[in-house]
Amino acid sequence: MIIPILYFCFDVKINSLKRIAVFTSGGDSPGMNACIRAVVRTAIYNQLEIFGIYRGYEGMIEGDIVQMNSKSVGNIIQRGGTFLKSTRNDEFRTKEGRQKAFDNLNKNRIEGVVAIGGDGTFTGANIFCKEFDIPFIGIPGTIDNDLMGTDFTIGYDTAINTVIQAVDKIRDTANSHNRLFVIEVMGKDAGFIALRSGIGTGAEAVLVPETPTYIDELIAKLEKGRRANKTSGIIIIAEGDDTGGAYEVAKKIKEKFNYYDIRVSILGHMQRGGSPTAIDRVLASQLGFEAVNALLNAHKNKMVGMVDKQVVFTPFEKAIKHHDQLNPQLLHLVEVLSI
Ligand code: F6P
Repeated sequence: MIIPILYFCFDVKINSLKRIAVFTSGGDSPGMNACIRAVVRTAIYNQLEIFGIYRGYEGMIEGDIVQMNSKSVGNIIQRGGTFLKSTRNDEFRTKEGRQKAFDNLNKNRIEGVVAIGGDGTFTGANIFCKEFDIPFIGIPGTIDNDLMGTDFTIGYDTAINTVIQAVDKIRDTANSHNRLFVIEVMGKDAGFIALRSGIGTGAEAVLVPETPTYIDELIAKLEKGRRANKTSGIIIIAEGDDTGGAYEVAKKIKEKFNYYDIRVSILGHMQRGGSPTAIDRVLASQLGFEAVNALLNAHKNKMVGMVDKQVVFTPFEKAIKHHDQLNPQLLHLVEVLSI
């Protein structure tokens, strides 16, 4: 007897949703455009009206909201960045800012929102959803991969590939000149980019925020490499490592270990750009599709991710509070393979 009643309630929810919106926020990442495309087209496929909010929370506060159609998202699956633009917005941190944002959603009769971004985006969404009665579904879009509830975030795979291409080129110079390069990659709180790109480029060492860095141990390792006739080397350091960055590490090595000519390279924002890889395009398309279906099925205030090839929903507060620890086996792999 209970089952038909539940089904009835569920059905009412599905039929009541008519207009939804999508936005991107925080640091852009390759694959965001593919994801917007998937959200827009899945919404239209389900006879929903779909709106794009430009410039993230800033556009929500200022009412920069435009109706999308299937053509609005044509020819963008291969493009890096986000055509809806992105911002990091301070006004949304205030109650007044969030009230303005809600008023604009109301004015446009938006009944559900898909937010594509990272921890900052979902921190904002989490507060907003508790203050106002409007369902949000988050999609993980950040190169940092620092969210709980998904194996990979959209843009992470492209970023690692970008780093690997850059480091391969730097290694040519390192080899030609017998130099040690300290290469800084993005990741202010997380070492995922550093670790994977370090393995993929055969780095001598990977320095990450999750584990303390001991310069003496690093030097001992370099000394061992020198005795094994290594004439050049690559150290990958995440920007959030506790040593204070690539220049600081290079300085400290130089003070005690004079064998190599040392150079520093900071890869910077080039890691956030470029055409998304196949992995990112497919992930973005799947998660965009799943996010709209989640709204239709009355899910709310959760991030949709992919864990072990399965779609998983994680409440915002959980997705932002923790990120998966770095895989110790991968950290060990760097040690074993860099002898
Ligand atoms: O998108 C995340 C991230 O790439 C971090 O790794 C980095 O610290 C930060 O963005 C820098 O972004 P911005 O220059 O936009 O503040």
